[in-house]
Amino acid sequence: MTWQNDGEACRIQFATHEEIDDAVLRYWPEDDDKDLTTTIVKRGWAFIDGGEGHHTVYLHNLESRSLEKETIYMYQVGSVKGEETFWSDIYTFHTPSEDDSFEFVATGDMGTSNAVSMPNLLRVANQHRYDFIAFAGDQAYDMADFNGTKGDEYMNFVQDIYATIPVMAAPGNHEYTYNFSHYKNRFSINPYLESGFEDPTMYSFDYKSLHLVSFSSEVFFDQGSPEQIQTALHWLNEDLTKANANRHQRPWIMVFAHRPLYCSPSESEDCTWKANTMRYGRNDTDLGGLEALFLKHRVDAYICGHRHNYERTYPVAHDQRVATSYYQPPSYFQLVVGNAGNFQGTDSFVNDTVPIADWSALRYEGYGFSTIKVSPTKLYISHYQSLPKDGTLGQMVDRVVVRKSRYPPIAGSRRVFCNNMEESGQMKTSATASCILHP
Ligand SMILES: [Fe+2]
Repeated sequence: MTWQNDGEACRIQFATHEEIDDAVLRYWPEDDDKDLTTTIVKRGWAFIDGGEGHHTVYLHNLESRSLEKETIYMYQVGSVKGEETFWSDIYTFHTPSEDDSFEFVATGDMGTSNAVSMPNLLRVANQHRYDFIAFAGDQAYDMADFNGTKGDEYMNFVQDIYATIPVMAAPGNHEYTYNFSHYKNRFSINPYLESGFEDPTMYSFDYKSLHLVSFSSEVFFDQGSPEQIQTALHWLNEDLTKANANRHQRPWIMVFAHRPLYCSPSESEDCTWKANTMRYGRNDTDLGGLEALFLKHRVDAYICGHRHNYERTYPVAHDQRVATSYYQPPSYFQLVVGNAGNFQGTDSFVNDTVPIADWSALRYEGYGFSTIKVSPTKLYISHYQSLPKDGTLGQMVDRVVVRKSRYPPIAGSRRVFCNNMEESGQMKTSATASCILHP
């Protein structure tokens, strides 16, 4: 499931292996099973995998009507065939609270094997505390494998999570096969049409004080033509222009995509020419990259995966740290959250033979996931360990508070002091960060 703006309604997709006559959604408040709402859509479409097996699933997109706030709903989807309706299990989800803050989960890079964070993600979904998961690309490893049946396997694997908490996704390099056809079909409930983009690979949505943009980093790489890069950057510029003009209502702007603009270690090509490509654009075009747009529109944070670890930067621009404080940060900062867990394991920092870049604030090379609490003037960013033996919750390995006044922000910054932070500003790997802001 996914949200529409401000969680006013949700979209739900389900798959069948046979054609059906109609698809049905019925939902009701948990404490009032008489208040039943039913929506019916025409049956969906046949999605045929691009492999030789022509594996086919029928996908059905359903949309709720306006939802009550602060309510736990129960729901089922149904397949109508002839006189019979076959109902799914009952799932629950919650709608936004009445107050002006909320929390969401950020993660990325999860497969069907070694999905270490899976039990924790299921736990957070069932808590009804977090309002959505921002998933920064690379799911299933890969949905198109085994004639596309891996996509079915993955969706069944994550169903209890994805049917309980809206998942706002972005595509990664592991979604690239057949021109992203699995992603474009299986995530066609992304709110891309109302975002003015041509397909589900990019969209934005508003949620309380946040404007969140999902961008496809892959346009800069093998799959992207110069025309596609131009279309993507033009769309992003337009979207961020509107969001920046609306700061009085949505003070925070975050962008998430799959690949990092900054990462360690510096020997990795992900962190050298590929990160440069993300920042400044591809060499064969003069279209530019993401950083100029982030700075122009004062994006607050960029969230990504691809590297299978966790790394937080200081406010950064032009490959330089521009502040050591997250109080009124003068530039955006980045979180790499690609450590949900997959068969490739984690990416180590230990081969770093050159000095750690000054923009790298904290690095953690285990498994985990991030949570972000958003209020109109503060972000509370946390990163939690998922323990590899049994997926249980470990300790909090990062915690930082980002603060600004009501828009427009005041120029300048103040110091942030973190436990275990050395004078150089480098965080010892695996250290628990406890950061105190001194106003
Ligand atoms: Fe990746």
